[in-house]
Amino acid sequence: MPDSADGALRASAIALLQARRAGRVNADDEEAVLTAARHSGISAAAAAIAARDCALAGLTTDEPFARLAAIVSRRCNEAPAAARAQCGLAALRLPRRTWRRLGGKVSFSDDAALAELWDYSKSRKKVTQTPSARGGFAWPPVFEDPSRPLVVDAGCGFGALAVSLAKVRPHVNVLAVDRAAHCLLYGDGLAHRLGMTGRLRFACASADEALHWVRECYAGPLRAVLFMFPTPPALDERSKNAQLPQTPSKCLVNAATLRLAARAGSSETCVLVASNVEDVAVRTRDLLASLPEFRVLQAKECGLAWPRTPVDGDAALRTKRWVELGGARAVGGDFLAASPLPARTETEGRYEAYGRPVYRVAGVVCVR
Ligand SMILES: C[S@@+](CC[C@H](N)C(=O)[O-])C[C@H]1O[C@@H](n2cnc3c(N)ncnc32)[C@H](O)[C@@H]1O
Repeated sequence: MPDSADGALRASAIALLQARRAGRVNADDEEAVLTAARHSGISAAAAAIAARDCALAGLTTDEPFARLAAIVSRRCNEAPAAARAQCGLAALRLPRRTWRRLGGKVSFSDDAALAELWDYSKSRKKVTQTPSARGGFAWPPVFEDPSRPLVVDAGCGFGALAVSLAKVRPHVNVLAVDRAAHCLLYGDGLAHRLGMTGRLRFACASADEALHWVRECYAGPLRAVLFMFPTPPALDERSKNAQLPQTPSKCLVNAATLRLAARAGSSETCVLVASNVEDVAVRTRDLLASLPEFRVLQAKECGLAWPRTPVDGDAALRTKRWVELGGARAVGGDFLAASPLPARTETEGRYEAYGRPVYRVAGVVCVR
């Protein structure tokens, strides 16, 4: 019965994911997925979802993915768009023919896969507590060659950007940190499967801890610190969202953290902040302009265009409120009209796919 075979695969993949998110690593959980995937009646959709869950659980070996990819391959005529996205998210090593049938572009960094990752993260209850002992992630991080330039992705989420950056910039080290350990499993699993752990480290740490460590211990230069889609502070006292930091100083991007970045870096170190809410970009620009350690990077210095008129698009409700309150708009050479990076985060991918504006501002260290 295909349904019960699919159900058994689904149940074993969910059990594996839950165990890993709770910090339990047990080879039996992985074996249960492999056993369930042996059934001849597994559908392409079930195999794709199980592959997605294995990827989110941070499996570091290719075997489960290879087996699930073989099922998708055999049955790819029935694979819907969602299965394609899930295959991408899992970065399955698909046979070329299957890959073509699924639409050609199936990788963890394509639009569909980023959207699937973002949708998954939104479907989950917000986890603010790290299980224990940094969720099993090593601290301090160890790099194969610590003299290489370093990029820090602060608040990396699932880490799709960090993995892509490490792939396309083989001469840099990437340190991706987040306070929530459960989301780091995904990027860490990919780093292992792609053989990049010598240059790409995921760690359960705050941005401040990471920057302190860079300042005290890292041998090479700090090239950039990325703050991609920091959770914004409450806009005003009318905001009832208790999940938001209530003051700007409690946000990921704040004066103390930026000063730490300046002290950890040198006069070439850049910071980049991207946000889907305009007030975060405007406040960050004002903050960078107010700190003697920084200079706001002009879009033309990055070889990029800048927004000449306000970008409303399908703006967030919050941006509409910011405008109503008379807030300044993210317009002019202080803001970047496109990303200076060769890759995107899951949030960036999702917002761009929805046609929603993304506001970006960058700074460069000028005094330490
Ligand atoms: C909205 S998510 C953005 C994730 C990812 N950068 C992206 O663009 O898709 C913000 C992330 O920042 C993390 N975070 C918040 N404050 C942090 C801090 N002080 N240090 C490290 N991570 C932090 C949260 O746990 C969350 O994963």
